[in-house]
Amino acid sequence: MLDTRISRRAALLGAGAIAAWAASPARAMLQSATRLPVPAFIDPLIAQMTVAEKAGQLSLMAAAWGGSAAPSLNPASRGPNFEGQLEEVRKMQLTGVFNGNGAEMARRMQTAAMTQSRLKIPLIFAADIIHGHRTIFPIPLGEAASFDLDMMERTARMASYEAAACGIDWTFAPMVDIARDQRWGRTMEGAGEDVLLGELIAAARVRGFQGKDLKANDAMLACAKHFAAYGAAEAGLDYNTVDISERTLREVYLPPFRVAFDAGAITTMASFNELSGVPATGNEWLLRTLLRDEWGFEGFVVSDYTGDEEMIAHGFAADARDATKLAFLAGVDMSMQSGFYRQHLPDLVEAGEVPMARLDESVRKVLATKALLGLFDDPFRRIDVKREKARSRTRPALALARESGRKSIVLLKNDGALLPLPKSGRKIAIIGPFAAGPHDLNGGWVVYGDNKLAVDLATGIKAAVADPALVSITPGSGIEEAIPGGIEAAVAAAQGADIVLLSIGEGERMSGEAQSRTEIVVPAPQQALAEAVAATGKPVVVVLRNGRALALEGAVAKAPAILVTWFLGSESGHAIADILFGDFGPSARLPCSFPRRPGQQPYHYDHKPTGRPNPSDDKLEPYKARWREIPNSALYPFGHGLTYGDIAYSELSAPATLGWNGEIGVSALVTNKGSRTAEEVVQLYIRDRTASVTRPVRELKAYRTVRLAPGASERVTFKLTREQLLFIGRENKPTVEPGTFDVWIAPSAEAPGVHARFELQAS
Ligand code: BGC
Repeated sequence: MLDTRISRRAALLGAGAIAAWAASPARAMLQSATRLPVPAFIDPLIAQMTVAEKAGQLSLMAAAWGGSAAPSLNPASRGPNFEGQLEEVRKMQLTGVFNGNGAEMARRMQTAAMTQSRLKIPLIFAADIIHGHRTIFPIPLGEAASFDLDMMERTARMASYEAAACGIDWTFAPMVDIARDQRWGRTMEGAGEDVLLGELIAAARVRGFQGKDLKANDAMLACAKHFAAYGAAEAGLDYNTVDISERTLREVYLPPFRVAFDAGAITTMASFNELSGVPATGNEWLLRTLLRDEWGFEGFVVSDYTGDEEMIAHGFAADARDATKLAFLAGVDMSMQSGFYRQHLPDLVEAGEVPMARLDESVRKVLATKALLGLFDDPFRRIDVKREKARSRTRPALALARESGRKSIVLLKNDGALLPLPKSGRKIAIIGPFAAGPHDLNGGWVVYGDNKLAVDLATGIKAAVADPALVSITPGSGIEEAIPGGIEAAVAAAQGADIVLLSIGEGERMSGEAQSRTEIVVPAPQQALAEAVAATGKPVVVVLRNGRALALEGAVAKAPAILVTWFLGSESGHAIADILFGDFGPSARLPCSFPRRPGQQPYHYDHKPTGRPNPSDDKLEPYKARWREIPNSALYPFGHGLTYGDIAYSELSAPATLGWNGEIGVSALVTNKGSRTAEEVVQLYIRDRTASVTRPVRELKAYRTVRLAPGASERVTFKLTREQLLFIGRENKPTVEPGTFDVWIAPSAEAPGVHARFELQAS
């Protein structure tokens, strides 16, 4: 019965499946998909294994070692204590553990595997190294704002250097889910709303985590997650239903995965959500027809945490045995945390419901991956207590945290050139719940970092100014609750100062997994604080802490200067001070649009036109696609971000035609009319005016960062070819059609910039 249901679905979705995915420009720059070599010793080893031992190789559990952070980041885990887990290792019931704690734990477990188990197969140690290990870098959404691929590769590399030193072989990162709905809390873990940026960052992070040699003791295996379309949850509610067309799936949600695999990721994690009626974890079309048959993916698929078990609650699997069978046959090679595979696969094989060949196929992939990591040559290669200490929070790592921190800060607004601030002669009041204290610095997805070791705003500011005695600190409000007398104290502090740094926003537990919000605004008590402080008339710089785009309102939106500082990790305060006082100019851009109101969600700049577009943001016309209250554009769109320069775009140059097999150069003159050096992220967007499938109002196709001294100009040129104009057509295949295209070179997705049109010719 269930099988029929799956195959009917598979047939429906598979009908449009294609044999080859045409390369996007980003992909074209990368190598072809990574092979997973299977060394000669693997099959003879599999031949010696019992069915139970094979099922053990496909079972990954949370580490039981005391002090592990795993339980605080996931629903409470069942399972034995550490001694019990060692016993499971001896009996070969485990392939490895995740979110454990340190080299000593790994040493004891690996020793048990290598000396006391029957076949001495090395364990694999996994962890959620999302944005750093002990040195914490900005949350991925923050780093995405840097648009700096080299920097993101370097932070991932540094995270591997630190984490691999304590035995971690495999990170559950990068998360490459496109997030178009800012209510979804996990938007903080990804690269934002844009597909091209998502692709480029996916590749950079995979390269960074894996390095040049996966056997190296500073390299970790990457895991592109969550496959697939996890970010498209209805209403932005985490874990919720996803129901999207195959075209949108292929055009928006899948490309970053494909790029991650092409960059060398050989593991992926099945997502929690159902996809158009079939849970991803039991979705044979997704995990076999598309992933393996169409894309040629040779690596292995791990479930998410109890993802197989959750198919019972989805109403897709009848019980544990059924869930095991559905997940395994759909293509989930390894089960995380439910223990279902080791409990039920032996019986399913015995009953002939799961072919032994399929079991062997999954085991082969897992063992080949362990071999690729060098674990069969030296199971202890990443486990070294001395190295763990020596590589923890090194000077270069902290310097990189500071660099990545300041490069992730977006200057939304800077009326009257309020910023940068002078370092002396001004009394500064830092007001708000994030003004000081060892909290809410690292962000919500940190297993091993310690907020107590991170630099808060007050420390950063005091270290930068000439006279720290001129800096006052007043919380004014809690994060989600008022403090008695807080506002009065804050108003008094503001009145006694020359300038206010208003440090407000979301706490680190307000974004991340299971942290969806309906009202993506600054929490009410902090908004009240902002209103009261603004009423003093003192100049206010809003220093926003946030894990998603927020709808800014009232005194926050009206403040003359606004900095988006996300969660910047270990060097937060120093990084913010670097920008505030102008030691470095801001250069980051929004990877997610800041809406005018929460009710605009899901909002993404690359939306489709309607048949009744509202012609101008200044005028709301009747019977047009707009809200009663506001135009449907962003307050600050994707790509927006100011510098301390004054940048002007002019003189677009583009040929009128692009030949079918040709290439054109599109360029604009970018000038810094200001008095300070600026790093400008110059962006190229296109629009296909008429196509057999409607196309977005704008799509990012390329960007480049240029550094401009005061008064300097640079002609920035982008090459355009037919491949960049591809879209997923009627048959769900990559298509490109001759016709008219708009092209813009602009400072953001919704800024006019400079514009031209060209024709793609048929031949
Ligand atoms: C998350 C994954 C994570 C896993 C293990 C799950 O709840 O969805 O992203 O890798 O837990 O911690």
